Amino acid sequence: MEKKVLLIALILAQFTFIGISGALAADQYSYTGKGTVTFNHAEHGKKMECSACHTEEEPAQIAISTKKEGHDLCLSCHKDEKKKGNKAAPTSCSQCHKK
Ligand code: HEC
Ligand code: HEC
Ligand code: HEC
Repeated sequence: MEKKVLLIALILAQFTFIGISGALAADQYSYTGKGTVTFNHAEHGKKMECSACHTEEEPAQIAISTKKEGHDLCLSCHKDEKKKGNKAAPTSCSQCHKK
């Protein structure tokens, strides 16, 4: 009985938390498919609009586990940036996939 009450309290606390602050994003994500790709989420969020990546009204999790998902989002934007003359967005393999 006590356990159940505690569980309900925890669930309610979680909903309140999400309700007030929105889903929380990490400052940094890393992927370990081929070496390690580090994605500095906070830095990207400062340099561009959230909507550059988040097409939903309320930014939510974006699945990145396959090469297609990673390259369709990350690499294609970096290639566009390069075409526009921004060399700070890496397009060569080893700049993203670090050993
Ligand atoms: C350059 C692309 C990009 C930009 C710009 C960006 N995000 Fe994200 N965001 C992502 C990706 C990719 C993920 C998923 C990371 C993962 O889980 O692997 C994500 C995840 C999130 C999540 C979900 C966290 C979770 O795990 O539930 C939230 C919330 C979020 N972002 C909010 C924001 C906000 C707010 C901004 C603007 C200040 C922003 N993002 C800018 C790419 C971006
Ligand atoms: C909508 C465009 C866009 C998307 C999507 C995007 N980036 Fe970038 N990224 C940039 C730009 C622009 C820069 C250069 C920022 C600057 O001017 O310093 C950059 C810089 C970087 C850098 C070098 C700076 C650093 O943080 O070390 C890495 C690595 C990087 N991005 C990884 C990623 C990964 C991984 C993803 C996908 C999860 C991603 N990016 C998605 C636009 C993008
Ligand atoms: C802008 C960053 C970026 C650049 C540049 C980049 N990749 Fe990726 N790549 C990713 C992301 C993100 C993923 C998906 C997450 C993961 O699997 O590590 C990925 C996934 C992959 C995978 C699948 C790994 C696995 O085990 O699922 C391969 C293979 C790959 N990339 C090869 C390359 C090659 C070859 C190049 C150079 C032509 C390259 N990548 C350039 C970001 C990048």
